[in-house]
Order: sequence, then structure tokens, then C-alpha cells
Amino acid sequence: MLFPTGAKIRSSRSLRLTLRFVLPLVAALTLLAYLVVPLVDRLNLRWSVRDMDIRSQFIAGTLQEPLGELLEQGHKMKINTLLARATQDERLFALGYCDGRGRLLYSSPVFPAQLGCSPPKPSDSESPLVQLPQGLVHVAVRPVIVADVPRGSLVLVHDMSFVQHRSADTRKYIVLLFAVLGLVISFITVLVAHLSWRGWMNGVRALLRGEGLVRPFAKPVDSELQPLMGDLRSLLRSIDAEKRMADDTTVAWTPDALRTLLYEQLAGEQIMVVSNREPYIHMQGAQGIDILRPASGLVTAVEPVMRACSGIWIAHGGGTADREAVDRKDHVRVPPDSPEYTLRRIWLSAEEEQGYYYGLANEGLWPLCHIAHVRPVFRTEDWEHYVTVNARFADAVVKEAQRDDPVVLVQDYHFALLPLMLRKLLPRATIITFWHIPWPNPESFGICPWRDELLRGMLGSTILGFHTPFHCKNFLETVERYLETRVDHASSTIFRGGNLTLVEAYPISIQWPPPWQDSQPSVQQCRADIRRSLNIAPDGFVGLGVDRLDYTKGILERLRAVEQLLVNHPELLGRFSFIQIAAPSRSVLEEYHSLESRVRALAAEINLRFGRGTYQPVHLRVSHHEPRDVNRYYRAADVCVVTSLHDGMNLVAKEFIAARDDERGVLVLSRFTGAAHELYEALIVNPYHIEQTADALYTALTMPAFEQRERMRSMRDLVRSFNVYRWAGRMLLDAARIRQREKLAVRIGVQP
Ligand code: G6P
Repeated sequence: MLFPTGAKIRSSRSLRLTLRFVLPLVAALTLLAYLVVPLVDRLNLRWSVRDMDIRSQFIAGTLQEPLGELLEQGHKMKINTLLARATQDERLFALGYCDGRGRLLYSSPVFPAQLGCSPPKPSDSESPLVQLPQGLVHVAVRPVIVADVPRGSLVLVHDMSFVQHRSADTRKYIVLLFAVLGLVISFITVLVAHLSWRGWMNGVRALLRGEGLVRPFAKPVDSELQPLMGDLRSLLRSIDAEKRMADDTTVAWTPDALRTLLYEQLAGEQIMVVSNREPYIHMQGAQGIDILRPASGLVTAVEPVMRACSGIWIAHGGGTADREAVDRKDHVRVPPDSPEYTLRRIWLSAEEEQGYYYGLANEGLWPLCHIAHVRPVFRTEDWEHYVTVNARFADAVVKEAQRDDPVVLVQDYHFALLPLMLRKLLPRATIITFWHIPWPNPESFGICPWRDELLRGMLGSTILGFHTPFHCKNFLETVERYLETRVDHASSTIFRGGNLTLVEAYPISIQWPPPWQDSQPSVQQCRADIRRSLNIAPDGFVGLGVDRLDYTKGILERLRAVEQLLVNHPELLGRFSFIQIAAPSRSVLEEYHSLESRVRALAAEINLRFGRGTYQPVHLRVSHHEPRDVNRYYRAADVCVVTSLHDGMNLVAKEFIAARDDERGVLVLSRFTGAAHELYEALIVNPYHIEQTADALYTALTMPAFEQRERMRSMRDLVRSFNVYRWAGRMLLDAARIRQREKLAVRIGVQP
């Protein structure tokens, strides 16, 4: 096994903890025992000497009278017998009687000759001890007074060997006592340490998960952590916020900055992207194979990120010549003229594409999330295909993963189930899911028959990104309404099934500098070319709309506004033309098919009503345009009109701004786009209000050059700094932080 399990980590930690604590404790106790034993020995000796002094005094006192009488009588034999009998006491080793001149006259049988009447003086008066060959003895000399007249002295010799025995015993007991003490202290300490370690770890684990203090289903956090929790959490959050702000002001977000971030913060991590739409489509053309760039905000944003990071992009191979372009592993290196990353194509059957892509994703989830007054359609068969295709992509991710912890960027509503599937297959992966379309309120989302499954699927993500804080709030509330989870609004996190998901706003953007910066024709050239090609007078005003032909884009409302403008300002007839580029999209669906008919009909109606001779107010171009061509239109226009009825972000608005390095041109922008939350200098409109949009168009066409410049300059500054590298960088930085926390959690032995 490559990675140690939690149990192993915990047991080795306990062993380390035990050794680290118990060994020094045992050493300290042993040292203490060695210091204590001599002290106790000395004390023992002092007490014994004092005992012997008292005993000697007592024995001398007791012998005083009989000895005095026998001395008076001169009974030599009896005196010796008296002394011998007195030494029958177990401790009294010998007795001697010395006369006033210091001669040993009488003594018990074993009186040590070398002691005589003047025994060697002990060095310490308190320790009248003498070391004899027989052993250590206590010697006391006491006067013998008969009838108040000093006659001589008694020499009392006590055997002190018992002190040594007593010392040996004491030493033994002390060592034993310390050993038992050591064991008891170790046991109690390890037990307490273990319990409080677990308590702390639970607390730290809760912190690492970003759990709040008060949670409806949370286990209570250990009381000793309670006072610290709030402080630690807000500290962590303010560090994150400061770091974010510092990054935003100091980091110039470029492809290089993103690459550096990847290597420094996510060193060596593998980046994988999963999306339905592929960035390059091989199509069978009349002259051979054509390679197309799809009209997709998702592709516009993610492609430059992939080019900066390399890695692998897994997508549906939907082009008619896609199979011819891949190798045996279904890989093709892209961009075709200077390959920088790998595209892995997944093949879907016609039924799968119908059910998963057209059905559940585009007839169900798309209208469900956009709330653009088109009813969502939910079919069980579509759902089953959706589940199968999500599982197919999950398998592909696992096969393409070179390690067990890749960073997987899951894109959009086609893959709501994929995060949880991946979480099960690659538990250590960092899964960043980005939802490119709006997230509706809980009531609206609640009508989806598979709402719980979709929500659960999304909550397999480490990070779940939306364009705006409003969509994040809607998502948190939806989860709170329908799932049993812990939703923490303060930290914008959701904890479910052991997985923590950070729900955060990452406003998407475009590549800066724009890819054609150095090769594009001048604005004058573009203005002249486009006008000439559409038979528009060289000084005619041009309005522009660029969209997929989708009912969420408000194309009908926009054309109505153009019509209203011409009604309100007949002086513009012949002088104002509106170009609508409409990339065909999802045309097999009835809703899209009928939209195309209605758009065509309305354009024709307006042209019929206001057209004069060669003058045609509306130029509708329903066809695919390569991004480089679209850029020429942006540069040629006087006003760009974005009137989405609901849009996650809308990158057309940002592309128009990026194209205008001449700082001219006006943006009319629907308030129902994510972009309206950033581009305040645009003319913001409610697209449902036709007159208002018509007025905004007029304001744009008559706006003085200096005002156009001021507005455009400010918006360009914003898009320059808040470009797509920042979008990806912010998510990857957050992912890196979460990874660091997870690694820390593993290091300290808790499951993150
Ligand atoms: C929106 C979606 C994208 C999608 C794009 C084009 O931007 O969020 O996921 O790729 O539309 O739609 P299509 O269905 O043609 O891929």
C-alpha cells in the first residue's frame, strides 16, 4: 500500500508519544532514586546513632549501681560476669570498664582489644562510629560514679551492622517505590494525553473541514477548544482573505503567472478538464477536414487555461471527422498548429447524445436554471442516459489519471453527477466543478425530479464555482432546503458524507491580452471592410449582436428594440444597421428550431418595414463564425448589444471590450447577466423593457467620444486584471490551500 492508513498512523503516533514521554520519565525517576537513597541512608544512620546513644546512656545508668557495689567489694569475677551478661543484649556487642587512669580492668569476652580505654576518636561527634575488622560499631564512653565519687568509665560497644541491613532494605523499597510510581504516572499521563489528543484532533479536524461553531447535526466540539474555535476560524478566514487581496493587487494574471502558480502551489499535480463541448472539432468538409472552434463561452474561457497548464481535456467527440484525427487512445494533440495539451475524445451513441445532451442537459437543466420562460422537460429515459454518460466520463478520468490525486476541473451542467462518481473512484482527487450557467432559487430548482441526486452529485466536489455570489447563495439555500447536510453560510461550505465543498464565486473571463492583439487589422480597416461587405455606408452606424441562437440570449427582444429605435428616431433610417451574428445551436431541438424561424421572421419583418433600396436595417448572419472573424466585427461596431434574459456571465460583452484597443464603442448590457455585476460603465438595461433598450441604443449612438473613452478605458482595466487566468488561478489557489490543509490533516493523523 502506497499510503499509510489512519489506524496505522494513529498507533505509530501513540507509540512515539509513549516512548517520547515515558522514557524520560523513567530516566528522571531513576536519577531521583539515586539521589534520594544516600539521603535516606544518612538519615537512617543518624537515627540509629541517636538510638545507640540513648541505649548506651540507659545501659550505663542501669549498670551504675551493681557495678559500683562490685567495684567496692573488689569481686573481679563477678564484675566480668556482670559485663558478660549485659552483652547478651542482641545489639550490645561488648562492654569494658576502665579505671580513672585509663586502664581496661574488666571487659566482656569479645571486647575488641584495639579499642582499649581510649577508642579512636570518631571524626564527627554526632557519629561515634568506628570501623573494626568485625564491622561498624558504635562506641560510647560513660562515667561510673560510686557514692558521688568518679571511679572510672564504662565503654559500651554496639554492633551497627543492622544499620547496613536496614539501609539495604530501605534502598530496595525506595527503588521499588519509584518504579511503581513511574509506572503509575506513565499510565495516567499517557491515558490523559491520549484522550486529550483525540479531543484536540477532533477539534482541529473540525477546523480543517471549515465547520462552524454551531451546527444543527454537529457533534459538540471538545470544551477546551470551544473558546478557541471562533478565533481560529476567523483567523484562518482573514488570512485567506488577506492572501486573496494581496494576490489580486500584486499578481498580474498572465499565462506565466498561472503556470508558476501551478508549479509552486500545486507542484507536479496533474490538471484534467472534463466538458461536454470539445475545444476543437474536426469536420468533414468539401475540401477535406476542417477544424472548427465552437461558439461556446466555456471553450473560450477554458482553452487558454489549458494551453497554459498542459494536461488533458476530456470531451465528447462530436465532429464528423473526429475519429479520423485521434490515435489509438482516442487522443489528439491541440491546438492543431502548435500542440500544447491533449484532447481525449469520448464517443457517444446517437441515443446517448439525444438523452444525455439534448434531453436532460438542454431540454431539462438548461431551461430549469435559466428561467427564461421555456418549460423544462424531464424524461426518465434521458435521465438514465445522463447517468450512464457521466459514469463513462468518470471512467475516462480514472484511466487518464496518472496519479491518485489529480486536479479535475469539471465543467458545467452536463456533469452534475460526475463529482461524486469521481470522489468515490479517486478519493484523493481535487475536484473543481464550475457551473457556467445561473443557479435558480430553491423553488424553481425543486421541480426537477432528480434534484436530490443532482445536488448530491455536485457535492462530491472540493470546490463548486459559480459566476456570482447570488448564484452561490441560491445553491446553498437549495441544498439546505432539500438535503440533510451541514450548510455553513458564513464560510460558504457544505459538509456532507465526510466531504466538504467550498461554494465560491469565480467570475469567468477571457484571455488577456486578446489572442489577435498583434495580428488583427486596424479598427479603421475593420470598420471599412465590414461596412463594405454588408453594403453599409462608410459612415453608417453599426450595432452588433453576437450569440448562439439560443432563447436565453434575448435576440427577439433585441431586434424589437432595434425596431423601436427606428420608430423613435426615423432620422436613423438609412444610417443605422444592426448586424446579428447567430451561431446555430442545438438546432435539432424544437425550441431552438422554432426560435431560429422566429428570429429570421422578425429580421425579415423589420427589413421589410424599414428597408429602402440597398439599405437593410438588420443583417442576420445565421452561421458559424470563427473567433478571429468575430473579432473584426467587434472592432467595426459602434455599439455591441447583449440582451440575455438570463446569463451566467456572458463573455461576448468582455470580448467586445477586449477588442476595442481604440477605446471607442459602447456596450449595452442586460442586467440579467453576470457581466452586469462587473461592467458598471456599460449601459445597463432590462431586455424585457423594449423601449428602455431602444433608448439605450440611442444613447450609445449619440455618446460623445470622450465619454465612450472613459467608459471603455475603465472596463478594459477591469477585464485586463480580472481575466481568465485570474479566474482559473483563484480556483487553483483555493484548491491548493484546501490540499495543503488536507495534507496537514493527514500528517497529524486525522482523516481530512
Ligand atoms: C453555454 C454552456 C456551455 C456550452 C455552451 C455552448 O455556454 O454553459 O457548457 O458549451 O453554452 O453550448 P453547446 O451546447 O453548443 O456546447
